[in-house]
Amino acid sequence: MTAPTHLPAWQALQQDYEQTQSVQMRDQFAQDPERANRYWLEVGGLAVDFSKNRINDQIIADLVALAEQAGLPERIEQMYRGEKINETENRAVLHVALRNRSNTPIKVDGKDVMPEVNHVLRKMGDFTRAVRSGEWLGYTNQVITDVVNIGIGGSDLGPLMMCTALKNFGHPRLNMHFVSNVDGTQMRDVLEKVHPETTLFIIASKTFTTQETLTNAHTARDWFLQAGSEKDIAKHFVAISTNQKAVAEFGIDTEHMFEFWDWVGGRYSLWSAIGLPIMLYLGEENFIELLEGAHLMDQHFRNAPLSRNLPALMGLIGIWYINFYGGGSHVIAPYDQHLHRLPKYIQQLDMESNGKQVQMDGTPVATETGPIIWGETGINGQHAFFQLLHQGTHITPIDLIASLEKRSNLPGHHEILLSNVFAQAEAFMRGKTSAEARAELQAQGVPAEHIEALVPHKTFSGNRPTNVILLDKITPRNMGSLIAMYEHKVFTQGVIWGINSFDQWGVELGKQLAKTILAELTGAIDPQLHDASTSKLVRLYRKANCEADGTCALFQ
Ligand code: F6P
Repeated sequence: MTAPTHLPAWQALQQDYEQTQSVQMRDQFAQDPERANRYWLEVGGLAVDFSKNRINDQIIADLVALAEQAGLPERIEQMYRGEKINETENRAVLHVALRNRSNTPIKVDGKDVMPEVNHVLRKMGDFTRAVRSGEWLGYTNQVITDVVNIGIGGSDLGPLMMCTALKNFGHPRLNMHFVSNVDGTQMRDVLEKVHPETTLFIIASKTFTTQETLTNAHTARDWFLQAGSEKDIAKHFVAISTNQKAVAEFGIDTEHMFEFWDWVGGRYSLWSAIGLPIMLYLGEENFIELLEGAHLMDQHFRNAPLSRNLPALMGLIGIWYINFYGGGSHVIAPYDQHLHRLPKYIQQLDMESNGKQVQMDGTPVATETGPIIWGETGINGQHAFFQLLHQGTHITPIDLIASLEKRSNLPGHHEILLSNVFAQAEAFMRGKTSAEARAELQAQGVPAEHIEALVPHKTFSGNRPTNVILLDKITPRNMGSLIAMYEHKVFTQGVIWGINSFDQWGVELGKQLAKTILAELTGAIDPQLHDASTSKLVRLYRKANCEADGTCALFQ
C-alpha cells in the first residue's frame, strides 16, 4: 500500500512547510484583505472561519491534491455505496444511511437497507409518542418520569452529549439519566433518585456483551424486581442492540428491542436506535431534524469540491499540523455550557477511529496518525489550560465553537462569552511581539529597569491555529450538521493515512486480561503468573478486601 509520504503532494507539502513555517498569520492578514472571506465556509446553519490557520492558497491546493492522490473521492463513494470499507471486520460503514433523508436506496450485499432504517425509525417514533404523551404507563399505571440509559462508549456518549446540548428542547416531564460506569456509585446515585413505578430503563449495547453495561443492567433489573415483578419488566425495560439472542437471554421481550445493524459503528451510532433517549427527550420531530442536519452535511461532503468541502478541509488542515508541524493534539473548546460534553464525544469519535498504527494492509504507518483530542468549555479552559496553548511549546490547533443566538435571557452574558471567543482566536493568531510588550509596559509606567526582565514573559509568539465554528443557533438540525462534519473530518484523515477508521481492536487486550484478573480478585481462581507489578497489585487488592471476603488466612 502506498504510504501517504510517497505521494507527490506530500513532497510538495514538505516544501511548503519549509518555505512557510516562519510566515506569520498576522502578516498574511495585513497583506490580504480577502483572507477572512477566502478561508470561510458555510454549510446550513454552520459558519466556519478557518482563516486563522498557517495556510495559504498553495498549501490548500497541495492538501487537496494529497486527498485526491490518496483516493479520498473514491473512498467517499465507496462508503456511500455501502461497500465494505471496514475491511478487518468485513463490514460496510453506513451511518450516512441512518440519516439518508432522501431515501435513495443504499445496498449492502445487494439489499437496500433503507426500508429497515425507516421501519426502526417508525418503531422508535411510536414508542416515543406513547412515552411522551403519557399513554405508556408503568406497572402501577403511572406515567414515566425518568429514563435511565445504561450503556458505555458509543452507546452512552452520543445520547448523553445530545440530550445535554439540546436541553432547551427537552420534555419537561422527563428526567434523563445516563449510567456508563461499572463503578457502582454511579448506578447507586441514579437509583437513589428514581422510583421503579415511573422509571424506564434503556439497555443500550451494540453487542449486548459489554461487561460494564450488562453488570449495570442486571443491577437495575434486581433493583426493579424488589418492587415490581417479572411480568412488569416489559413496561420498564427496553433494549437497543444488534444482538437479538442476547437481548432475549437477558429477559427483555424482543418486541421491546430497537434494532440496529453491524454496519453502524458504536461511535457513529447516535443516529440509529441508540438515539432513542434523544428521541424520547426531544421528540420525534426534533430527532428527524437532527438527521436532516446530518444529511445536509453528508450531501455537502459527497458533492462539494474538495477545495470548498468543509469536513475534508478540516481534516486536511489537521493533517498539516499533525504530520508537518508535529502537533499531535487538538482541543475542542465549546463556548457553551450545554455543549460541555462535546469534547468527550469527539474524543471517542476521533481517537477510537484514528488511533491506529498500521495501514489497511497491515503494514506499519509511515507517519503520526490520530491526534489526542481533549478539551473543556472554552471559557473554563481559559482559566485553566489556555496558558499552555498561548505560551507553551506545543502547536495545538483549537476549535472554538459557539452559538450566535443568545443562549439565555440574562443580560450581558452572551456578549461576554462571544467577546472571549473572538478575542482568543485573535490572540492565538496575533500573539504579542516583544516590541508591543515593551511599549505596553512603558505606557503602564513600569520602571525601565524591570521592563527588560518582564518582556520575554509578556511576549506571545502567536501564529497559533484556531477554527472558529459558529452555529446560528444550537438546534437539533445544526447539531446534526456539526457532528456529521466531525465524522467526515475523521474519515478524511483516516483515508489519507490509509488506516481503517472503523475498527477498534486496540480495546480488546485489556478486556481479555481483565477476565483473568477478575477471577483472581474474586478468588474464583488462584493467583496466576503475571509480571511482578501486576501480581503485587492483585495481592494488594485481595489483602485489602480479605476481611469482607473471609480470606485473610491466606495473607498471614
Ligand atoms: O470497548 C469499546 C467499545 O466496543 C466501543 O467501540 C463501543 O462504543 C463501546 O465499547 C460499547 O459497546 P457496546 O455498544 O457493544 O456495548
